Amino acid sequence: MNRTLVIVKPDGVERSLVGEIISRFEKKGLKIVAGRFETIPKELAEKHYFEHAGKSFYDELVTFITRSPAFVCVLEGPEDTWKVVRTMMGPTNPIDAQPGTIRGDLGLEIGENLVHGSDSNESAAREIEVFFPGI
Ligand code: RTP
Ligand code: MG
Repeated sequence: MNRTLVIVKPDGVERSLVGEIISRFEKKGLKIVAGRFETIPKELAEKHYFEHAGKSFYDELVTFITRSPAFVCVLEGPEDTWKVVRTMMGPTNPIDAQPGTIRGDLGLEIGENLVHGSDSNESAAREIEVFFPGI
């Protein structure tokens, strides 16, 4: 078994899409093994998105992800579960995302793209430790 970090971002919670988004992962066969609602503290947001520090969209990204509660969770499934989640999310820009994906079905803006999923097993391990240390 293998784990990845998923965040239903503030726009997803504001739009009452937590159930819609998480149920897609559950129906696919992934298990929620940890989860909580929280307004992500700036310090955790900066740790989580450290790879984007200094980029043109970084300040906006941190402001967005910390603006209201998010649903942060750990999903468990087969090897490379992160990849299953990323495929179901669709590409970063919802304009490019195919129907059938979360971003393709539910989003329109790159800055409000509803869901985060780790982009490798290494990122998953690091990000899970940021939000759920020791699990
Ligand atoms: P995420 O980390 O949130 O799951 O998204 P991602 O892997 O699909 O995209 P990533 O490259 O990690 O970027 C993180 C978030 O930054 C915003 N972004 N804006 N304006 C832009 O060019 C731009 N590029 C990225 C997006 O909200 C993206 O989800
Ligand atoms: Mg990313």
